[in-house]
Amino acid sequence: SAQKDYKLWLQYNKVEDATILNSYRSTIKGVHAFGNSETIAIATKEIEQGLSSLLGQEIHKINNENSANIIVIGKTSELSAELQQNIQKDIRIINNEGYVIKTLNNNKQVLITGKTDVAVLYGVFHFLRLLQTNQSISNLAITDAPKINVRILNHWDNLNETVERGYAGSSIWNWQKLPDFIDQRYIDYARANASIGINGTVLNNVNANALILTPQYFEKVTALANTFRPYGIKVYLTARFSAPIEIGKLKTADPYDPEVQKWWKDKTAEIYKSIPDFGGFLVKANSEGQPGPQNYGRNHVDGANMLADALAPFGGIVMWRAFVYSEHNTDDRAKQAYSEFVPYDGKFRDNVIVQVKNGAIDFQPREPFHPMFGAMPKTPLMMEFQITQEYLGFSTHLVFLPKLFQEVLQSDTYSKGKGSTVAKIIDGSLDPHKLTGMAGVANIGSDINWCGHPFAQANWYGFGRLAWNPNLDSKTIAEEWLRMTFSNNEKFVQPVQEMMIDSREAVVNYMTPLGLHHIMDTGHHYGPGPWVSNLSRPEWNPVYYHKADKNGIGFDRSSTGSNATAQYAPEIAKEFNDIAKCPEKDLLWFHHVSWDYKLKNGATLWDGLAQKYQEGVNQVGNMQSTWGKMKPYVDEQRFHEVEMLLNIQHKEAKWWRDACLLYFQQFSGKELPNGVEKPT
Ligand code: GCU
Repeated sequence: SAQKDYKLWLQYNKVEDATILNSYRSTIKGVHAFGNSETIAIATKEIEQGLSSLLGQEIHKINNENSANIIVIGKTSELSAELQQNIQKDIRIINNEGYVIKTLNNNKQVLITGKTDVAVLYGVFHFLRLLQTNQSISNLAITDAPKINVRILNHWDNLNETVERGYAGSSIWNWQKLPDFIDQRYIDYARANASIGINGTVLNNVNANALILTPQYFEKVTALANTFRPYGIKVYLTARFSAPIEIGKLKTADPYDPEVQKWWKDKTAEIYKSIPDFGGFLVKANSEGQPGPQNYGRNHVDGANMLADALAPFGGIVMWRAFVYSEHNTDDRAKQAYSEFVPYDGKFRDNVIVQVKNGAIDFQPREPFHPMFGAMPKTPLMMEFQITQEYLGFSTHLVFLPKLFQEVLQSDTYSKGKGSTVAKIIDGSLDPHKLTGMAGVANIGSDINWCGHPFAQANWYGFGRLAWNPNLDSKTIAEEWLRMTFSNNEKFVQPVQEMMIDSREAVVNYMTPLGLHHIMDTGHHYGPGPWVSNLSRPEWNPVYYHKADKNGIGFDRSSTGSNATAQYAPEIAKEFNDIAKCPEKDLLWFHHVSWDYKLKNGATLWDGLAQKYQEGVNQVGNMQSTWGKMKPYVDEQRFHEVEMLLNIQHKEAKWWRDACLLYFQQFSGKELPNGVEKPT
């Protein structure tokens, strides 16, 4: 069963329900493939093996394309003329990565096709998902295409094989054995990503080492790019801004210096010589001590455009990160990225996309959406989510992140009136942009189960699904994932789906309820540390964020405070700014609130805060009891792993509650309300 852990959501267990199994068996007798590219070979093998395993009987290649009850796959231009005619209309409306799955000829054949081989592969995975989740496969008429172009993982992997903020072992890139040793994991990684439509990967850490841009590493990167290419995955690298000095022996990295410009042009050309479809660069500049254009009195536009000009002849892009805040800036950290970037709207080259974290601080259990979304209509903005659980209990706590992602994506920015959701900004439909993207900081490592926690696999899966379609419902994602990963038994799916959905609010409640944020112990960010106040930079200290005193608690970001609320569209700003209208889930994010303030349910703020912490603990208790009943449906190993992890999570939810309440009680001076357990 260690193998089960490794297989992720591609278990392809034999269909248990006899009626469903029989209907599948009578519909599918074989597979016929048009085309002979590497990608089509992969798609053919996937569907043959997947179906054989799901149906519990061998499904073979059929040479005669006119046979009855077969699955026909292939790129549209390579299909027979008759088949092409059948799907002409469907194919016209989809992009190059989209596919059509259609039942033809009186239910006798199912055709899976698209304009490119990779589209066919995506279609194959979709078709297999239908069987994996026990859905009907008769009279299919599916057209689907990704709404976002760049669907990409960001690996914060260092060249020494450690992973920054990684909690699932070490890096899966074995730089020492590359380029000649291609670990089976690279192939399995590519396959898993293709199954959810991920089409890009940044191999190395945003806190970049320039060595990745040297010939020794290029051969290794090329080997990975060659491995991933048939799965539709492009390779990208992070570019350390000072690389011209560190590995190029230049005296400066000033983007205005012609030698520096030439260095990047040559470097880029060198990469494209061995990787003709190289994706481009991801850059963290002038952020947390990283070098950047500001070191030379230049700005983000100067830096990004210089790299963009080097990449443009080859079709590459620059993903320039907006995660900036400065030790020289005394303004509210939450305001700094907006202040720095919004004035540059419209000034970036066409092949630059600005990568913005979902919230203005840093991947907290809950943050209001980043005010940059909606504020730069002339610049493509891409979403950066963190799949790895830096602030959410590492790989120890079960937290289903698609629920968090959905909340952000469906937030209304009002930038063009009601209905201007973040999803519409990043998919380029609100302000038309050709370049669109969603990045997820990967939670993948060398652990047998890839992600540390069996349920953390769902966060990788869900990220991919939302990057494909940012309007998907996280409930649907949870259900799909459970059926594919564990079981289709309704007695399992329904309660565990609920448990996953509730897990997000649980972590908010036991860590940072009512808009609290960044009160984790510093450095590692695991466990509570609201008392920490001795770090050199004020904005690294939890006390900076909760500002508890005898009058109350919370960060005043309203017009009487830092006025961060003014960075939102007026409709939203008005709401956030007014303590009575501010959603309670964001209350202490935007307001310093007195301990006696009356919440909507009539409780005082102090009582309400304590009750939220208790609720979080109770929710984890419910998760434990739900899981405890799932033994009949899950293999022994995964059942026991999750059980142990939930026990730790419960213990730590209490740790959070007790630590935070005892600490804040010094300021409130009040007793804990009834129903909140006293620390023991
Ligand atoms: C967080 C994280 C760092 C990371 C940074 C970033 O601050 O703790 O490890 O480098 O985000 O996104 O650049």
